[in-house]
Amino acid sequence: MTTGTLISRMAEPQFRTPKGTHDVLPEEQRYMTYIKKAVRHRARQAGYKRIDPPIFEYRSIFERGIGEHTDIVEKELFAVSGKSAEADKAGTFALRPEFTAGICRAYIEHGMQQLPQPVEFFAIGPCFRHDRPQKGRYRQFHQFDLEVIGLKDPSLDAQLIHVITNIFADIRILDRLTLQINNIGTAENRKAYVQAIKDFFVGKERQLPELDRSRLETNPLRLLDSKEEDTQILVKNAPKLEQFLDEESRQFHATLLEYLDALGVSYVPNPGLVRGLDYYTQTVFEFWDSNTGAQNAVGGGGRYDGLIELLGGKPTPGVGFAGGMERIMWHMKEAGVQAPHKDQMDVFVAQLGPEAKKTCLRLIADLREKGVHSVGALGEASLKSQMRLADKFEAKFALLLGKMEVKRETIILRDMKAGKQQEVPFAGIIEKVIELLGEKNLDTYTLRDQFVGPTDD
Ligand code: HAM
Repeated sequence: MTTGTLISRMAEPQFRTPKGTHDVLPEEQRYMTYIKKAVRHRARQAGYKRIDPPIFEYRSIFERGIGEHTDIVEKELFAVSGKSAEADKAGTFALRPEFTAGICRAYIEHGMQQLPQPVEFFAIGPCFRHDRPQKGRYRQFHQFDLEVIGLKDPSLDAQLIHVITNIFADIRILDRLTLQINNIGTAENRKAYVQAIKDFFVGKERQLPELDRSRLETNPLRLLDSKEEDTQILVKNAPKLEQFLDEESRQFHATLLEYLDALGVSYVPNPGLVRGLDYYTQTVFEFWDSNTGAQNAVGGGGRYDGLIELLGGKPTPGVGFAGGMERIMWHMKEAGVQAPHKDQMDVFVAQLGPEAKKTCLRLIADLREKGVHSVGALGEASLKSQMRLADKFEAKFALLLGKMEVKRETIILRDMKAGKQQEVPFAGIIEKVIELLGEKNLDTYTLRDQFVGPTDD
């Protein structure tokens, strides 16, 4: 039975998830796990180490890092005001809207410039943006994030992008996406460009809608991707960012594209791509749905050579990317990707009578220990209703132990699919089940460690 049919039969619940949030239900977990596995595998191959910055941070980190006049900070920051003395100054903290600023804070805080560079991180987890929820846009969503900090070379940008395309290929959605790429120049280039945009709009302010008029003051670059028709018409004749790029940025970009060619990564140069976070310099890129375009990009990233200095560290370059897991999951489902899972039930154990119940408790534990997924009806229901339950669990086999079988030291083994059963000796039943399931289908695991023994210090 699907969760949908279950819900339709139930009364309206008293509590629901808050707007813009959702439960990641078991049937979604299998996709999540699949994506996480691909990310972990590809990240490890390339030397990225896992990091988990806290879910909330001082909000000034995001304000300073992402930019005070970006949508994310201006409209979408999820303020946290707790009850402790410190947090009572409402809004001291904010839930992370992304990972990059927090990871750069961690890099500075833990003195990681002492490590061999670049330092490569990956992170997976929930992020929060207080946006107006709509399809593909949530208040709590999940990102996987990759960051390469401490060295600047177009080969690092190319390698990062290659790792991402490998992840998308592994989860079989790469052919549904196009990589859009651009270079937005250095901070100085952008300063000159911002001035040129301001100059261009002198005398045209009155033609701008109110919101864009105020943006002209706070963040003129945002006029370029304005949704307002009047602004879009004016922007057509505005100076282009491309004209303001210095020679180094042009060269950097040309080399990056050559490296992408060498790695066999396809891309679409997009001179209009600017991205909504202030920390970017030079390389920016996004993965778009090939059919619908920019709306609901499945991921985006770029270079942020000024961010660490902005957060109080020594000037340190960086490049990174984040993918939105809900949007990726949507693509996987659309593409018909069947995320494998290990949630199948192998054995259902049914019993009748106190003696049988005690024996079954041990039997279930022993089956599980061997890696056989097992559940048992340990209530007092009749054998018939226990068998109905076995059906609902979609168990492959059922084991039935009644009073007679206990006396005869046997057990009934039922093949649920074939609907056939036989009475077999109780001793050796676990081996028999394992033989039927096949050793390779057992869910066993080993925690491998490298134990070196206690040290004296
Ligand atoms: P971003 O473009 O803001 O970049 O977000 C990356 C991805 O997160 C988006 O492409 C989208 O798939 C997903 N996403 C963002 N907001 C939402 C939302 N409200 N609901 C669902 N999914 C969402 C960053 O976050 C940068 N930190 C990426 C980066 C890393 N740049 C350098 N390093």
